[in-house]
Amino acid sequence: MGTAPLASAVTTALHGAILVVTIDNPPVNALGQAVRQGLAAAMQQAEADAAVSAVLLVGQGKAFIAGADIREFGQPPVPPSLPEVCAAIENCSKPVIAAIHGAALGGGLEVAMSAHYRLALPAASLGLPEVLLGLLPGSGGTQRAPRLMGVKPATELMLSGKPMNAKAALAAGLVDRLAEGTDPVAAGLAYANELLAQKAPVRRTRDIVIANPEEALAALEALKAETAKKSRGLFSPLKIIECVQAAVQQPFDAALAFERAQFVACVASPQRAGLVHAFFAEREVAKVPEAKLAAPRPFSSIAIIGGGTMGAGITVSALDAGFAVTMIERDAESIARGQKNVEKVYDGLIAKGRMTADAKAAIMARYTPSTSYDDIAQVDLVIEAVFEDLEVKKAVFRELDRVCKPGAVLATNTSYLDIEAIADATSRPQDVIGLHFFSPANIMKLLEIVVPSKVSADVVATAFELAKKLKKVPVRAGVCDGFIGNRILAVYKQAADYLMEDGASPYEIDAAVRSFGYPMGPFQVTDLAGGDIGWATRKRRAATRNPAARYVEIADRICERGWFGQKTGRGFYLYPEGARVGQPDPEVLAIVDAERQKKGVTPRSFTEEEILRRYMAAMVNEGAKVVEEGIALRPLDVDVTFMSGYGFPRHRGGPMKWADMQGLPKILADIESFAKEDPLFWEPAPLLVRLVKEGKGFDSLNKAE
Ligand code: 3HC
Ligand code: NAI
Repeated sequence: MGTAPLASAVTTALHGAILVVTIDNPPVNALGQAVRQGLAAAMQQAEADAAVSAVLLVGQGKAFIAGADIREFGQPPVPPSLPEVCAAIENCSKPVIAAIHGAALGGGLEVAMSAHYRLALPAASLGLPEVLLGLLPGSGGTQRAPRLMGVKPATELMLSGKPMNAKAALAAGLVDRLAEGTDPVAAGLAYANELLAQKAPVRRTRDIVIANPEEALAALEALKAETAKKSRGLFSPLKIIECVQAAVQQPFDAALAFERAQFVACVASPQRAGLVHAFFAEREVAKVPEAKLAAPRPFSSIAIIGGGTMGAGITVSALDAGFAVTMIERDAESIARGQKNVEKVYDGLIAKGRMTADAKAAIMARYTPSTSYDDIAQVDLVIEAVFEDLEVKKAVFRELDRVCKPGAVLATNTSYLDIEAIADATSRPQDVIGLHFFSPANIMKLLEIVVPSKVSADVVATAFELAKKLKKVPVRAGVCDGFIGNRILAVYKQAADYLMEDGASPYEIDAAVRSFGYPMGPFQVTDLAGGDIGWATRKRRAATRNPAARYVEIADRICERGWFGQKTGRGFYLYPEGARVGQPDPEVLAIVDAERQKKGVTPRSFTEEEILRRYMAAMVNEGAKVVEEGIALRPLDVDVTFMSGYGFPRHRGGPMKWADMQGLPKILADIESFAKEDPLFWEPAPLLVRLVKEGKGFDSLNKAE
């Protein structure tokens, strides 16, 4: 038995007649150049060495192979290419076995599918997630998966991007055998020896003939129609289907070449750039200075103060993550309502057949309702979600200060209020932090972690740890009115209001924003959330509003009529008989007209492109201010906030990435031209001006971290 290092990323060792090829490229064995080179050399060695009768591919560490190295996309390719490596594996004259004990994703599964036999251990996770990065499996995945699994299931796997576990992979035909344990070498050697004893032949996936081509093509046509509707403007899903069509209709090598060409087109697309940025940005957001300075405080029990919309949603989120949760409300009636709000979520799942009554009972066993703060004296972490009123919140925090054990983390879910003032209501501001969840809190991924000046680093680290446990996407934000998300939202919402007063209808604005890739436009969102919420904020801010700033009153006129959106049956749209999709309302258009007349505005028309240019420029400009002031650590924090909490289309990578892809000079030129109409609103962010002068993009600040 000898070990020969080929490249440090791949080692080989001969176990009897079996060459064990180990991929060792932490953290996830991505297929960077060194791994590809190492695999190619290992296959040459296997072919050349007469002592080798079979080859076993395994991954070192947690993963088998998590796919191509995503960091290499967009850079000049360095040989050998992954298709070449896959061909070398598949064409090996000796049986090649892949033993999969962890992630075999994307290119990793393509390597495994090029092997002649596949074995999965219990923790294996197999999938083709390329679509989530704006790509398609580009190393034979679109050709080999349909041969192993069948055309329709393989296409569905590639379109969803979701991984499957070992058992599902066996049932789907992706693997040949399951084994127990966690050691791929031991399990793989046992399987390989068995195959050798049986004189099992080399079996090339490419030689499998796709059955019933007519039926397969019909299934693909149906998937194509469905996908065109569902994937709204996405580039790679339809390309995946075209590649599978080629697999059915063309000889293997021709279809493989077709796949490669489509893959290259996907790599070059701005959607790939946006989605890969999203992938890394979502991992970078957790890298904050406090997490490097301090370890999180241990926590296992959580109290939620307030059982309304947010309190109940946060309770569900914490229960789902396995925590013991105590909910505190004002009185018996309110706590009964709070519990009902929580149970409603689980009852909904039961009604849809997605949960059993027993599972609900097991979860609710960890839930304790109470009206006494004394019951939370020993909890580790408290999240307050009472009315948005500073005095009410201060009173709650004084109570928490009185009862909670030393070291308990005290968090507020306030949307806008001054967290410094809330912290100062206690004798322990070092323990007070903002945890801004989004509604519905059990579903929305974003969690803004708002860091006031006196909070200690370990409390910030605890908040990030909580986010991980709740499976949220955390973004660190500084204290200001609206933090990152709501502050920027207020500005681009204003741009939408100006567009409406100047001549675009709310329906045209919503349609333009949808065409960009948002699921809804701003006026639809207002109707969904309830117009009264924004109205209350506007009234609160009226006293401090700059009298010189332009103020559009149309939304106020609508709220004065009691039209708060979906919940009242009308808002900017009409919702007859509880409809969820609104219809344009001629009366709203009349209100808009009347307001224009009152202000002496002669309406002009705006194209979809003109609407978007203003809407996006307002968003990017305020985003730049938020970064410059340190409210967001980096531009990528703004990007993640908007992708995870505000419906910003992921394939565009977030507003700051989108701005970089447009070119910052173009955005600044737009802002400067709009500023001729309203210099106060369209004042360019100094950071934007500086970056343009220096010829840099926002991305230069992401890398500085
Ligand atoms: N390339 C480069 N880096 C990768 C990577 C990849 N394919 N996958 C993960 N990483 C990095 C992450 O950025 C992270 O780096 P960091 O520590 O510096 O932030 C580190 O590996 C660990 O990743 P996670 O934090 O995500 O670790 P988890 O344990 O939570 O998840 C995972 C592991 C399930 C493998 C997850 O990382 C994942 O889903 N990775 C992406 C898999 C993927 O999309 N593969 C397809 C690539 S495209 C392809 O293969 C094209 C081919 O068809 C030609
Ligand atoms: P809500 O009105 O639905 O619920 C508030 C609950 O707090 C009520 O059940 C009330 O009985 C309870 N409460 C009031 N005073 C209390 C006290 N002293 N002790 C215990 N319970 C008390 O309000 P919602 O929408 O849940 O908002 C709560 C907080 O979350 C607010 O600060 C709000 O700004 C914030 N928020 C709201 C979002 C939303 O979309 N609704 C999104 C993000 C944050």
